[in-house]
Amino acid sequence: MSSNKVLIVDDEENILISLSSILEDEGYSVKTCPDAESALKTLEKEEFDVAFIDIWLPKMDGLKLFEIMKEQKREEEVIFISGHGTIEQAVRATKIGAFDFLEKPLSLERVVVAAKNASKKKELLEKEKFFKSELKSDVEIVGESPAMLQLKEQINLVAPSDGRVLIYGENGTGKELVARSIHQLSPRASEPFIEVNCAAIPNELIESELFGHRKGSFTGAIENKKGKFLLANKGTLFLDEVGDMSLMTQAKVLRALEEQKIEPVGASESIKVDVRVIAATNKDLEKEIAEGRFREDLYYRLNVVFIKLPPLRERNSDIPLLFNYYLDYYSKKYKKEKKKLSSSAVKALYECPWNGNVRELKNLAERVIIMHRGEEILEEDLFLKPSSLQRSSDKMYSGSLKEAREAFERDYILKVINDNGGNLAKSAEILGIERRHLYRKLSALKIR
Ligand SMILES: Nc1ncnc2c1ncn2[C@@H]1O[C@H](COP(=O)(O)OP(=O)(O)OP(=O)(O)O)[C@@H](O)[C@H]1O
Ligand SMILES: [Mg+2]
Repeated sequence: MSSNKVLIVDDEENILISLSSILEDEGYSVKTCPDAESALKTLEKEEFDVAFIDIWLPKMDGLKLFEIMKEQKREEEVIFISGHGTIEQAVRATKIGAFDFLEKPLSLERVVVAAKNASKKKELLEKEKFFKSELKSDVEIVGESPAMLQLKEQINLVAPSDGRVLIYGENGTGKELVARSIHQLSPRASEPFIEVNCAAIPNELIESELFGHRKGSFTGAIENKKGKFLLANKGTLFLDEVGDMSLMTQAKVLRALEEQKIEPVGASESIKVDVRVIAATNKDLEKEIAEGRFREDLYYRLNVVFIKLPPLRERNSDIPLLFNYYLDYYSKKYKKEKKKLSSSAVKALYECPWNGNVRELKNLAERVIIMHRGEEILEEDLFLKPSSLQRSSDKMYSGSLKEAREAFERDYILKVINDNGGNLAKSAEILGIERRHLYRKLSALKIR
């Protein structure tokens, strides 16, 4: 952690000297100013954690300086230093937001305690602010391309209604983010948002997952269990990867939507539920219907409002915006300094295909913040070149054909997974194999 920064504003030189030496001994990094005017100049360039300000200063006094700092929404914690005759003003200042005041002659011990307490408060406030912004950014949709502006408008229109929404988009385009922000902007916002990933749940369990079950209704059902529909009661149910549901489950979901009732596995009566359903898929459901894998009637039930999320490569202008947004986000999260993109880096970002869309970009920004030193990010710092593949073709494979083939498979699979930001579904698609097959390969090739 960087050391806390303190500003001292006082016209008495011996006070500046004694305060700064004691605070520096305590590990603070200290700047001093002899008057309010120079303090304002310094504050334009730098932020501090704590400011000690003398009330009586030659031209502009300390209280006026404090007023200006408040107008500028400065975040320094202010401790006033007051001589006799200014105590009353100092007390008043603490009532309008100053952290504390100290009386002259100064007790150095009290100075240290006050600095410690003030910087602690500052730290807590910052932490709280970060967590708040992190919560908020949970549903913050970044983007100013025409497609994104249209999307935000669509979300604002659909959110207040109870209308079902079907979100379509490639992996990592923000389907879940959009679903959450619809919920957040809806009258159901204070009720639960419950997510079900239909692709991740084995077929034989999905019914109990969605509708719940009664104790003893099948082996393993040792207790009553509430299903996701019931958990989402009065709120929103997000059916993710809805295109991966089996036909049998589709029939049951359809019935639940039609009747607004669910029947837990093993129960004899049904339960009324009030749930808004938002579904998402990266599959072309019309094609799935044509090929008999998705029920047309369910499709029309889910698809009252259709939202299509464009892949990142079709809204290039959002790329630097998003990247900078996440550089900022992760530099705060990891307490690293802010970083700037060089123009060559911006160009490289534009040229990247972004098969893993925003998720891939977000991961890259995180990696850059963790790995990169210095302020400016150059093209080569982004590691965008698929160097792993280039290297693997130069690589001298050796051993039997089987060994060489495995080595190549391993390199290639790793490259595809990397290029897709770790998204296995998308990687399997590009590799032209089933996701399950990819899982098997990963374990056979001992890729973790
Ligand atoms: N417009 C955006 N602004 C800011 N962050 C975004 C945006 N779109 C996506 N993200 C972020 O990218 C990541 C991936 O988004 P999300 O999980 O919503 O995508 P998805 O379409 O559901 O992906 P998948 O199909 O792989 O499940 C998330 O961390 C999300 O916060
Ligand atoms: Mg998702």
